[in-house]
Amino acid sequence: MGKAMLEVRELTTKYITRFHEDVYAVDHVSFTVEEGKSIGIAGESGCGKSTLALSLMGYYFPPLHYTSGDIIIDGKNISGMNPDDVRVKILGTEIAYIPQAAMNALNPTRKILKFIEDVILAHDPKQSKNDIRDLARKRFEVLNLPADVLNRHPVELSGGMKQRTVIAISTILSPKVLIADEPSSALDVTSQKLVIKMIRDMMDMGFIKSMIFITHELPLLYNVTDSILVMYAGQLVESGLAKQMIFDPVHPYSKGLMDSIIVPEEGTRDVKLTAIPGTPPNLKNPPSGCRFADRCKYAQKLCKSFEVSMRKFGEVSPEGDTSERNRAYRCLIPVHELKESYDKEREGGLSS
Ligand SMILES: Nc1ncnc2c1ncn2[C@@H]1O[C@H](COP(=O)(O)OP(=O)(O)O)[C@@H](O)[C@H]1O
Ligand code: SF4
Ligand SMILES: [Mg+2]
Repeated sequence: MGKAMLEVRELTTKYITRFHEDVYAVDHVSFTVEEGKSIGIAGESGCGKSTLALSLMGYYFPPLHYTSGDIIIDGKNISGMNPDDVRVKILGTEIAYIPQAAMNALNPTRKILKFIEDVILAHDPKQSKNDIRDLARKRFEVLNLPADVLNRHPVELSGGMKQRTVIAISTILSPKVLIADEPSSALDVTSQKLVIKMIRDMMDMGFIKSMIFITHELPLLYNVTDSILVMYAGQLVESGLAKQMIFDPVHPYSKGLMDSIIVPEEGTRDVKLTAIPGTPPNLKNPPSGCRFADRCKYAQKLCKSFEVSMRKFGEVSPEGDTSERNRAYRCLIPVHELKESYDKEREGGLSS
């Protein structure tokens, strides 16, 4: 195992609404991202992806509150740190966050270079503006962004260019962890590919040491991240390598996510798409037992009364491949039984 850049242990955070209700949006989440690796987080809208991203920065302000757990960046535990210290010592350098729809939040009256000056000067007020301009120009050039973008205003840039610019601004201090929340969701396919390529280039060039890519589209993560976590109702329900998660999902929810997505490849037009019926539970009052039980076609009596935790599974292959070992899922049914059911359904689907 490589060096851990980000280690998250049993992180639990919640919103407290103005009506004093608790919304348990991140519930005992644990995972690790190693140096040079990227991890994807997928799940339906409202499952807690953005809240997890916000929570990982260790920078809490109402209505979001830290409850328990650890966030360890490159060996340093930042949970419980004073928010002012987090802002000065952690944000931008240790961890950078690109919020959902960040490109539309840029102040339209300022030039791109000004945003970069803000980020660098907040960290190091002594830097000269000439040095900042040189650094920004070099970084833009190496990332295939035209340097003259630095003198433009956000409104003068296309959507794709604006998003790549936001990513370049947010990572100008070369953070150890980059969290990108749905960075390509609002873009056309060509711009999506350019955004993803740029993030990968930044990893290869060492401008970021690890990455978390959040999306509601699980298949998008293939070829983008090394591994994938699937989240449901504030909890992780499955984790594994990207290839395993996309081609061989085990948890009924991950399987449902894959089956409800159109894969635009030849010969797949006739494949029946099955949306997952029902809606996720209200996180103000999550159900006991398995949170997916009301929507799961494999649900049994025990599922609603038994607290299901994440369980590791998989064996080392004859070639010594340990990757299967790193898989985990949150379900009462043994893996082989779930897979048998999936196989039978597929055979049934093909013969009908
Ligand atoms: N400011 C807030 N106050 C209270 N509840 C919130 C707030 N923001 C999000 N939530 C709730 O937290 C849950 C997770 O939301 P979010 O993290 O935005 O999900 P995702 O990013 O996966 O779509 C949802 O139930 C949402 O309604
Ligand atoms: S624990 Fe039960 S309800 Fe939950 S996913 Fe597994 S089979 Fe479905
Ligand atoms: Mg979100």
